[in-house]
Amino acid sequence: PRPILLTRHGESADNVRGRIGGDPVLSERGEKYASKLSDFVEKRLKNERTASIWTSTLQRTVLTGRHIVGFPKVQWRALDEINAGVCDGMTYEEIKIEMPEEYTARKLDKLRYRYPRGESYLDVIQRLEPVIIELERQRSPVVVIAHQAVLRALYAYFADKPLKEVPHIEMPLHTIIEIQMGVTAPVKSTSIDMN
Ligand code: G3H
Repeated sequence: PRPILLTRHGESADNVRGRIGGDPVLSERGEKYASKLSDFVEKRLKNERTASIWTSTLQRTVLTGRHIVGFPKVQWRALDEINAGVCDGMTYEEIKIEMPEEYTARKLDKLRYRYPRGESYLDVIQRLEPVIIELERQRSPVVVIAHQAVLRALYAYFADKPLKEVPHIEMPLHTIIEIQMGVTAPVKSTSIDMN
């Protein structure tokens, strides 16, 4: 068995303000998570000969992985967060008030709803295909540091969850999900103690 570790980036300045999208840096708590994650990965992978660290191209994931040393890092555009198009940078409350039809349409069908000039969950699932192929092809452990919507889709694939559940899967911050490749009943999740 070969571990795949999935985690969201540490809390960002926009997470704190409830804004979606953008390319923010980490909050103080997020910085703390970046340190704790590197301790966790170092311990968890200490007996592995090699491993790789995959992030998106957005700085909150790159910053979250930056204390992890000794393993090659790869940035994937396909791991970037769902593109919220015209809603990028807004809070859900602002979308509800300024674009009520968009808000309602998304609520009614979050899987298929596509943000104007942005993406739907189905779009995200489709663009993750090369990432999944590469994850399955790797021979050593991979740590994937990405985003809520993207990780819901990856997790659903490996945990065999139905498509319609993908947008609603719980994917909290500061939590590591471990998947054992090549084993049945493979999913284990570890919350990092932030204190
Ligand atoms: O910025 C995007 C969020 O991480 C995705 O969350 O699909 O539940 O709105 P949501």
